[in-house]
Amino acid sequence: MRRRHQLLVSPSCCLSGLVLLLLALSARAQRQAHTDPSEVAALNAIFRRWGLRASAAWNISGEPCSGAATDDTDIDDDPNFNPAIKCDCSYNGSTVCHITRMKVYALDVAGQIPAELQNLTYLANLNLGQNYLTGSLPAFLGKLTRLQYLSFGVNALTGVVPRELGNLKNLISLYIDSCGLSGELPSTFSKLKGLRVLWASDNEFIRKIPDYIGSLLNLTDLRLHGNNFDGPIPASFSNLVNLANLRIGDFTGEVSSLAFVVNMTSLNTLVLRNSRISDNLASVDFSKFVGLNYLDLSFNSITGKVSPTLLNLNPLNFLFLGSNNLSGSLPDMISPSLTTIDLSYNMLSGRYPSWVNMNNLHVNLVWNNFGIDNSNNSILPSGLNCLQRDTPCLIGSPSHSSFAVDSGGKRPIRGSDNSIYEPDDASLQGASYYVTNSTRWGLSNIGKFVDSPNGSYIIDTSRRFTNTLDSELFQTARMSPSSLRYYGIGLKNGMYKVVLQFAEIFFPGDQTWKSVGKRIFNIYIQGDLKETDFDIKKQTNGKSYTVVERQYIVEVTNNFLDIHLFWAGKGTCCIPNQGFYGPLISAISVSSYGSNGEGDPGPQKNSSTNRTGLVVGVVVSVAVLGFLALAGVFVWR
Ligand SMILES: *[C@@H]1O[C@H](CO)[C@@H](O)[C@H](O)[C@H]1NC(C)=O
Ligand SMILES: *[C@@H]1O[C@H](CO)[C@@H](O)[C@H](O)[C@H]1NC(C)=O
Ligand SMILES: *[C@@H]1O[C@H](CO)[C@@H](O)[C@H](O)[C@H]1NC(C)=O
Ligand SMILES: *[C@@H]1O[C@H](CO)[C@@H](O)[C@H](O)[C@H]1NC(C)=O
Ligand SMILES: *[C@@H]1O[C@H](CO)[C@@H](O)[C@H](O)[C@H]1NC(C)=O
Ligand SMILES: *[C@@H]1O[C@H](CO)[C@@H](O)[C@H](O)[C@H]1NC(C)=O
Ligand SMILES: *[C@@H]1O[C@H](CO)[C@@H](O)[C@H](O)[C@H]1NC(C)=O
Ligand SMILES: *[C@@H]1O[C@H](CO)[C@@H](O)[C@H](O)[C@H]1NC(C)=O
Ligand SMILES: *[C@@H]1O[C@H](CO)[C@@H](O)[C@H](O)[C@H]1NC(C)=O
Repeated sequence: MRRRHQLLVSPSCCLSGLVLLLLALSARAQRQAHTDPSEVAALNAIFRRWGLRASAAWNISGEPCSGAATDDTDIDDDPNFNPAIKCDCSYNGSTVCHITRMKVYALDVAGQIPAELQNLTYLANLNLGQNYLTGSLPAFLGKLTRLQYLSFGVNALTGVVPRELGNLKNLISLYIDSCGLSGELPSTFSKLKGLRVLWASDNEFIRKIPDYIGSLLNLTDLRLHGNNFDGPIPASFSNLVNLANLRIGDFTGEVSSLAFVVNMTSLNTLVLRNSRISDNLASVDFSKFVGLNYLDLSFNSITGKVSPTLLNLNPLNFLFLGSNNLSGSLPDMISPSLTTIDLSYNMLSGRYPSWVNMNNLHVNLVWNNFGIDNSNNSILPSGLNCLQRDTPCLIGSPSHSSFAVDSGGKRPIRGSDNSIYEPDDASLQGASYYVTNSTRWGLSNIGKFVDSPNGSYIIDTSRRFTNTLDSELFQTARMSPSSLRYYGIGLKNGMYKVVLQFAEIFFPGDQTWKSVGKRIFNIYIQGDLKETDFDIKKQTNGKSYTVVERQYIVEVTNNFLDIHLFWAGKGTCCIPNQGFYGPLISAISVSSYGSNGEGDPGPQKNSSTNRTGLVVGVVVSVAVLGFLALAGVFVWR
């Protein structure tokens, strides 16, 4: 999580600058300076518990505040200096050193947070991010009141955030994202007035986002998405006018308006995705947001028009307004800074402006009301006429009753089920779609991998998979940071069996910080929620490279099928690298169900037990390979 180190620069550089200055001033005396003995004992005890050793270059002959800990070795960006500490040796007439910084970052440390940590009372900077720390966050952390920077991001903790953390009045940056915490954010956090960075995304936090967050006026970077917060977003947020980066979302409950945003004109990134916002887009005058680079208001109920002002905002680069209720036609001009425009799933209509087929612009206009005929069907990537609300191209003339796709695959593969899995290797970007030449199926992809210059929408592995006869199908997969939809086009109406196949190919299954990596998403078919917080590895008891299959029986009524994989903000952001999150899928097959029989188990048998779901998931494990015939119990409506 490189960004953390960058963010850390402002508080920590002053600190280490100060340390260096003091060191220089006391260069001669330093020879006599010794680390406070209780801190030495605590440090050695902590490292012993975690099975860590300092490098020889740092812990010269057992004196921790020596070597790299006191010279000008950079603690942030030097991977060889990890674990690491820095000391301030100016105490007691430059005879005593105290440990001021500790970094144990992404080192696969497994275990609890040791009690000895409370003896390192001079710590100003503690980075324990990206490990496998378990147990709860201890209340004694609240006694380390010199802390300015504190990170537990990406760990396997449990329990609530202790109230005592509110005593850390000098805190500037707090990272508790993706670390397993739950409960409410404690009211004592209202005392953290100096806080500039708060990352608390992807935990199990509940209730409303507390009002006091709106009184932490120095906040510049706030991330709270992927929790279980109830709406609305507190009105007090309108005070946070110093924010440069705001990412919230994934609310349930009451709707919010956009009013709290109007004065946040310092923003360069604003993400209010999936936030139950119901308002008119015109209620914010975006012309005042002169530094806005990234705007994501997708998956809300925002009405109004796409204004020329918004589309002409420079330096706006990424604009996600999909899945709202925007109407009207598109403006004639756009800012040259725009590279990605998602307007899918709105009520837009009218004619194409000339900019839609500009080079290097990715624009997704799927599922709107554009009337598209032969005269303009070729302006954008072909097939958009098949992906509009009222003009699915093959309505009334369905041509087939099955299709299969090898997501990310480069060539056709015959599966053990005898389907031909078609290749799906089009290089898509943050707002893209395509429809195959045969107009049998298509897909739409939305989203940009956060903080990742090279986040990839197709991933692959050369590993072989043992619990499948179709190993090759799983060596490629598609991944999306927001929303990935596969469409069946021109299908004969009737019942279909939809088989979705997955395998986690990025997070290893062992107990390392990499295994803390979590990919969690939701699955909708024909608009019905089929899986909430679907986690591939949970289905395999933590094993990666293991095939998971889900089957659903669904009805096709308009010659059209929509399979939607949706990221609801959960899961880690950055393991093993930045930008490895969001839905992943390896293969899809769809075939008509029932009338042709084809060895499917009789569906009606259990019809009385469950009328809510059309379906049933089946986890394939080695033991039940070749299982399709005995594939569990289908629940029928
Ligand atoms: C440093 O000085 C303070 C008071 O001047 C004293 O309490 C403390 O024990 C001294 N520390 C060491 C390690 O000598
Ligand atoms: C520092 O070195 C001493 C002597 O080799 C050793 O006992 C101690 O455990 C080391 N401390 C750390 C943190 O590695
Ligand atoms: C902290 O240091 C004190 C001595 O200053 C010692 O008595 C105590 O046992 C230490 N506590 C831990 C948890 O290491
Ligand atoms: C907020 O930031 C300003 C400017 O950096 C600083 O002067 C002020 O002390 C900070 N407020 C708190 C409560 O830390
Ligand atoms: C935005 O700022 C203006 C001018 O300072 C103020 O009148 C208005 O109340 C503010 N709006 C909100 C929602 O805070
Ligand atoms: C969309 O907006 C129209 C008014 O423009 C309104 O009638 C309709 O209910 C809205 N639909 C949704 C789903 O919000
Ligand atoms: C496509 O062309 C038709 C006929 O010229 C026109 O009515 C329609 O508005 C055009 N559609 C778009 C999206 O420009
Ligand atoms: C689809 O059609 C385009 C243009 O007609 C052609 O260039 C391309 O090779 C075709 N793709 C496939 C997979 O047949
Ligand atoms: C992305 O870039 C980072 C740093 O340059 C590199 O470590 C990582 O492997 C790259 N990821 C991919 C998928 O190429």
